Amino acid sequence: MKLTLKLLTVALVLFAITSKSFAQNLDKATLPEQNNSKIQWWQEARFGMFIHWGVYSIPGRGGWEMYQEHIPFSEYAAFADQFNPKAYNPKEWVTKAKEAGMKYIVLTTRHHDGFCLFDSKVSDFTAPKTGAKRDLIAEFADACHEAGMRMGFYYSLQDWHFPGILPQGGPVSPSNMKLLREQAHAQVRELLTNYGVVDILWFDAPAPDDPESWRSKELFEMARKLQPNIIINDRAGLPGDFATPENVVSAQARPWESCFTMNRTWGYARYDRNYKPVHEIVRLLASCASQSGNFLLNVSPDGEGAIPIEQVEIMNAMGKWMQVNGKAIYGAGPSPVVAPNLGMTSRVKDKVYLLIQRWPGSTVPFAWCGSKVKSACLLATGQYARIEQKGDRMWLHDLPQYPSDPYLNVIELTFEGEPKASEPAYQ
Ligand code: GLC
Repeated sequence: MKLTLKLLTVALVLFAITSKSFAQNLDKATLPEQNNSKIQWWQEARFGMFIHWGVYSIPGRGGWEMYQEHIPFSEYAAFADQFNPKAYNPKEWVTKAKEAGMKYIVLTTRHHDGFCLFDSKVSDFTAPKTGAKRDLIAEFADACHEAGMRMGFYYSLQDWHFPGILPQGGPVSPSNMKLLREQAHAQVRELLTNYGVVDILWFDAPAPDDPESWRSKELFEMARKLQPNIIINDRAGLPGDFATPENVVSAQARPWESCFTMNRTWGYARYDRNYKPVHEIVRLLASCASQSGNFLLNVSPDGEGAIPIEQVEIMNAMGKWMQVNGKAIYGAGPSPVVAPNLGMTSRVKDKVYLLIQRWPGSTVPFAWCGSKVKSACLLATGQYARIEQKGDRMWLHDLPQYPSDPYLNVIELTFEGEPKASEPAYQ
């Protein structure tokens, strides 16, 4: 019995030590650097827009139609002739992203079906050479640059329309691999040469999945030469500048960005109405930011280039929330002061934000607070709480009985000196 108790104590102490040092390492590794590192703007940004748009937006069944339905290229090509997006207005997309509080946009310049929204000398399966008869990426790049919006290019290495590649099946022959690789290198060169400053290169889906087949190192070197300040993700078989967990919040000890769909599909899906509620999307954003991660939220315009109304409504709601509460998100990282009874906490410079998912009523209690709190402001109403602090226990009084914000309420804490925990808290 005594031995079990001893073992339990040792285990608990070890747990406390390791979880503390993990949090400290996470802090050091992922908080924005003081110096002008290339990725600093991105770590400040925390919130971006992902756009999946292409020929698959015509059939409108999610983006994977060609592969999942074994559509032969000759049949699939007809969608490209119908793809002439009359409602395409990238300026409006940029405005919507800005209003939602998003600081960058990543657009699929080419998805797995191989269709290029841009003009390419090495492919005929492009917007300028089919129905649209124009370079849709040129218009997008102009809109971003004009509005000062940071711009990212998504590029799928996988290319289903290429002979010998999925969905036709089978391993890629060395001669096909060479052609595929050369096409990818040439197109990445085009993308990084013809559209002014590109801030992010967002690779996806290398098939085969090894950096040698793609000569990824050379690809990276070329990208960095053409765009010296570009940041590159981790999906070309190399670690790149940041990690990209997908549809999951998974904190990493390096810069990371979780990308999420709003419903269940990346590309436009006419009948996918399984939208996440706004409070869930706000929670995901806050969860990423409070762990030094970014949140890339996907929209999927239809074949005409219009963003579905449900998605616009979600973005509008996000915008309203960010306008009031964005201070807790931009440039945020983990806070030493935690409040597991309330929800999450984030830290930006010397401020700590309580991101309250479970509103407790007119008095907000929490603990493990190791430094003196000077003021506590509920951002939704601008009200200041009356503060009571006893040892490491805190009570914020005179707040509204009911939660003021419908999604997530934020209280900004200002400290005398450094915010500190009294001791590591088990969360
Ligand atoms: C997955 C999907 C792809 C999508 C990507 C976004 O890899 O297969 O369609 O573009 O996620 O992260």
